Amino acid sequence: MRFTQRNSLPSETAQWGAQIDLRNLPEHVAIIMDGNGRWARSRGMPRLFGHQKGVEALKKAIAFALEVGIPYLSAWAFSTANWKRPEAEVKGLMNILRRTLNKDLVEFHERGICLKVVGSRLNLPSDLLAMIEHAEQLTAPNTKLTLLINFNYDGRTDIIEATKALARKVQAGILAPEQITEEMLTAHTMTAGIPDPDLLIRTSGVVRLSNYMMWQCTFTEFVFLEKNWPDFQKQDFCNSIQKFQNCGRNFGQISA
Ligand code: FPP
Repeated sequence: MRFTQRNSLPSETAQWGAQIDLRNLPEHVAIIMDGNGRWARSRGMPRLFGHQKGVEALKKAIAFALEVGIPYLSAWAFSTANWKRPEAEVKGLMNILRRTLNKDLVEFHERGICLKVVGSRLNLPSDLLAMIEHAEQLTAPNTKLTLLINFNYDGRTDIIEATKALARKVQAGILAPEQITEEMLTAHTMTAGIPDPDLLIRTSGVVRLSNYMMWQCTFTEFVFLEKNWPDFQKQDFCNSIQKFQNCGRNFGQISA
């Protein structure tokens, strides 16, 4: 943790510090932002309205991560399975990413956020690809928070693509199958260089991983919240970290 003297903390940080141990934070928190559609429908609104409100909730999560000093935050914004949704919803989600990369980029940059869009670049519109590349290049030097937006992402495809990359090296004769290690496969995933999530939060009462970061979430602690994503508040993030800090992780070993 960057802050050493209690009385030198910004006030929001000190407020959270009264509830959680700021020296024992998860390094990487991943979020499945679920329940946008149900949230909107229960208000008689179109599903896209729920996704738009979901962006506001994501901004609260980002602000919280910055306030307490969580270095990596992942958020699943578009799954490869989401292509099967009605065209208007797919287009709407693409437009939400466009708007975020357009309207919010300067603020992200000023706040020291390094933005990465994690997922397959295949099938994404060319203008969106250009915006992603620009945003990633602009924010690459930033170090306060690495924000990973999982877009056109799913965990099995991530593992398959990493496996193909290793198979190509075997085929080229630069790697023997016996030499393949866990670290090597990790280094070929779409999150290469990013620590595995310590904590995964999923909203909407659904209790499953749904093909999110299958490889990366082996030792991740899961917190499932009943509320839908647009209702997510900073306090929910804080409560989830409290649960994480009380869970006694042992990575398969016996606790001391
Ligand atoms: C799952 O809820 C959520 C999604 C498929 C999209 C999440 C996207 C956002 C929160 C917008 C943020 C995006 C960017 C690019 C910044 P659901 O719609 O499946 O909910 P349901 O299960 O209630 O139908």
